[in-house]
Amino acid sequence: MINAREYWDQRHQALDDLRSGGDRGISEGENYAFYIHRLSAVLRFLHEHFYGKRPLHILDAGCGKGFFSEGLVRSGYEVDGIDSSEAAIRIAREQTVGEFHCVPLETFEAKRLYDAVICIDVLFHILDDQVWEASLKNLINSVSINGLIIVTDVAGPERLSLGNYIIHRPREQYLECFGERGFTLQRSVPFRLGVNPNKFLVFAASTQGEDSK
Ligand SMILES: C[S@@+](CC[C@H](N)C(=O)[O-])C[C@H]1O[C@@H](n2cnc3c(N)ncnc32)[C@H](O)[C@@H]1O
Repeated sequence: MINAREYWDQRHQALDDLRSGGDRGISEGENYAFYIHRLSAVLRFLHEHFYGKRPLHILDAGCGKGFFSEGLVRSGYEVDGIDSSEAAIRIAREQTVGEFHCVPLETFEAKRLYDAVICIDVLFHILDDQVWEASLKNLINSVSINGLIIVTDVAGPERLSLGNYIIHRPREQYLECFGERGFTLQRSVPFRLGVNPNKFLVFAASTQGEDSK
């Protein structure tokens, strides 16, 4: 098993701003489009859940160099970010207004409750199942009762390991972990960009059923 913290720290130092946290197999320009596409989706989910309510305080969990944090701050939200990579957090602090802390998800204890937590392309990079579960639990504990948690993964019928740094967990595993803590899946929305298989999984503590728009 790779040392994930070292892997990400080196990658964040070696690659440019977008390829280090995005897709290293495509150009900076293509990554920019990839980020904007996903940022737009996140803004839409927030708007549809909160009906434009401001201010909202958002936790960007596994923020990397902070592209999503910055986009959310520019859109008028207050954002805190955490990531286990020192190199990424240093750059996020330089580039974005907000509180950024170098801390792993699995030991994170929120000092406040957030209106929304986003965790974009992070959980499938956590290889150990216990660490994955502890991380999800900490994210869920960080959000207010009327809040929203947006994570991304393939969430297909089966567990899927790719290379030495990706494990896509099945949808059932997400439903179980969130369900035990009173959260239900509101929406499951594929990225719909190229061949990327990931989806946004939008969870809330609510009685509403899943909407697969
Ligand atoms: C693919 S990058 C995505 C970064 C950011 N969300 C984005 O989309 O630009 C994955 C990030 O997860 C972070 N990460 C991996 N495991 C983590 C953990 N256990 N706790 C906190 N961050 C972690 C890495 O340092 C890296 O910045």
